[in-house]
Amino acid sequence: MAIVYNEKDKTITLQTAHSTYQMKIALYGVLQHTYYGGKVSQGDMSGLWQAYDRGFSGNPNDADNHRAFSLDTLPQEYPSAGVGDFRIPGASLVNGDGSRAGDWRYKSHEIRSGKYSLPGLPALYAGEEEADTLEIVLEDKAGKSRLTLTYGVFPEIDVITRTAALTNLADAPMEVGKLASLCLDMPFGDWELIHFHGRHAMERMPARTALAPGAFSVGSRRGTSSHQHNPFVILAAPGADEDAGDCLGAAFVYSGGFLAETEVDQNGLTRLVMGIQPEGFCWKLGPGETFQAPEAVLAYSDKGLTALSHRFHKAFRQHLVRGKWKEGPRPVLINNWEATYFDFTTDKLVDIAKAAAPLGVDLLVMDDGWFRNRNDDMGGLGDWEVNEEKLPGGLKALAERINAQGMQLGIWFEPEMVSERSALFASHPDWVLQIPGRAPTRSRYQLVLDLSQPAVCDYLYERIARVLRDAPIPYVKWDMNRSLSDVWSAALPADRQGETPHRYVLGLYGLLERLTRDFPDVLFEGCSGGGGRFDAGMLYYTPQIWCSDNTDAIDRLTIQYGTSFGYPISAVGAHVSAVPNHQTGRVTPLTTRGIVAMCGSFGYELDLSRATAEEREHMARQIQNYKTLQPLIYEGAYYRLTDPTSDPVAACAFVGTRRECCLIMAVYTKTFANGAIPHIRLKGLDSDKTYRVRLLAEAATEWGREWRGLAEAGGDLLMSAGLSLPRPRGDYGSLCLLLEEQD
Ligand code: GLA
Repeated sequence: MAIVYNEKDKTITLQTAHSTYQMKIALYGVLQHTYYGGKVSQGDMSGLWQAYDRGFSGNPNDADNHRAFSLDTLPQEYPSAGVGDFRIPGASLVNGDGSRAGDWRYKSHEIRSGKYSLPGLPALYAGEEEADTLEIVLEDKAGKSRLTLTYGVFPEIDVITRTAALTNLADAPMEVGKLASLCLDMPFGDWELIHFHGRHAMERMPARTALAPGAFSVGSRRGTSSHQHNPFVILAAPGADEDAGDCLGAAFVYSGGFLAETEVDQNGLTRLVMGIQPEGFCWKLGPGETFQAPEAVLAYSDKGLTALSHRFHKAFRQHLVRGKWKEGPRPVLINNWEATYFDFTTDKLVDIAKAAAPLGVDLLVMDDGWFRNRNDDMGGLGDWEVNEEKLPGGLKALAERINAQGMQLGIWFEPEMVSERSALFASHPDWVLQIPGRAPTRSRYQLVLDLSQPAVCDYLYERIARVLRDAPIPYVKWDMNRSLSDVWSAALPADRQGETPHRYVLGLYGLLERLTRDFPDVLFEGCSGGGGRFDAGMLYYTPQIWCSDNTDAIDRLTIQYGTSFGYPISAVGAHVSAVPNHQTGRVTPLTTRGIVAMCGSFGYELDLSRATAEEREHMARQIQNYKTLQPLIYEGAYYRLTDPTSDPVAACAFVGTRRECCLIMAVYTKTFANGAIPHIRLKGLDSDKTYRVRLLAEAATEWGREWRGLAEAGGDLLMSAGLSLPRPRGDYGSLCLLLEEQD
């Protein structure tokens, strides 16, 4: 068992291969958090924290004259609310009697093998042998509520999941304004918060903020996880880098608004709290009802950020992504968005497919614009009736012609939206999020459907299912192109309007669950104006997510670098697009665009029918290369070798599971006259192995082809002495090196 209860000292210890997490049923039944960090084989760690009488930090009534015992200073497993802990609360609620307090004390616990699941919510899953579950029941007698804290422990992959549920034990309803999924008190040490911020077309840029006394938070009030902040954060010790130092990551398995809060308290304790965005949220809990918070995933590394990322990559790849597309090859696709935007017909798509098929492209994704009233972004969303003027004979005829080229057809949907110019809006104006008497905010001319209403989800299921049933379409791009505002549901009474944002997300998950269950062969790719909903919640349903609307290879280096801290490479939708790039106007070599897109789930997004013979030949080699290397890219251990936000060379590597091979990719982003020799050191190789080093000439620009390194080298040499790259020349040169173990 990875979970051990010690009756004598009342500690509960969660053990993974390289980390230990401990809590203790402390005095008066208060659950004390004692430790989360590098592996400790045994012992009660509560003594690390010394209780002192601190002025203005009061004491629970049952502590009598024990003035040192204060909820305001104690590291708690889940902080109480309104009863003397003045730091960030885990929960905020209004009990039936109007009091705003929760003081939960230990009642019981249970340890069992296997991993719990959360009906209706995405969560990590595991085989009976792969994880254990701890459930702790706490009760607030006066407030009449029960708090259940549930933990999943994955010993082998060093991951712990957490969630909380609140049950109303009173006769009157209570209101839940906040119920965090994760609260973590780190009593010692200075911490920095690494978080991933951005904007449309420039998502998940890493920032590192030293935490100081006071509070610092990141989050989204947009109803989705958002481009602006990602629900994945890292607490890192100052100086912790890729290879060394303490760090812990927290990912929220949720796609709605979120809040990740930190506070350094008066005595230097750092608290991390993560959960549903409380702003605009309020859940009415009737007698006997339970509110279940979504899941959060935690991992600790005392060996730096790379090891931390590997833990999340494994957890998400092996225990979150599901279905047919979890393992194994995914199709190389071509998407027509940047090729044609709204201006296409069946013939045009078939032309693209004709050009793509001989190169080895597997699937053509017909993007936005295939349905009626959709020749620009001002109308058409919601009806999902094929536009037979563009596509005579409909989707079936199109699919047949694409299939005749030896390719599959994929399709774009934006199910959660409606255009005011649509039959759906005309017949169901009450199906959109809008506040009575207030004209709703438009964004991209569209309104948001109220997915909190089951009738809306049923309608969307039918529309999408009909398309998937009527034509052979094994791929869906699920887009979502605005933030939620004017959040008000016609289906809920006034005192339940605060439930709408979360019910929306539950509706979305329910819909995705039904579709992925009923169409198990379909690959769903998530998207929200690129990477506006790139989170662990969506990965449960969509094994890959379009990473950004920015297809510029150089910007993508940073976007994909930031994304890689929390998310596996297989999740990252990445395409080779035309130059000058449509977002930045930058011109980069085709080789470089290919290399950057290969660090993800690879595809194209340009008008292939206009590509030159030379370009097509080049792409055929790219595709062949990618198909050969995809298993290594998906399953290998990913190493960030440089930081592209500051280093002129962006380099990363994929190391085979048996350390038998390694693929290195490097892109030169800044050129200087007479510049220093770029140098990288490899990671994760076997020091006792000798590797053959081969430049993949088909994946190297002129700059890359100047590479003159050792043809053969030991793992130790490559990791300690490293590799030199050619001196900078020209713009955006790149290369791929493949290391293979010598037999
Ligand atoms: C979003 C997506 C794009 C494309 C357009 C279509 O911006 O991120 O890839 O599908 O919508 O309108």
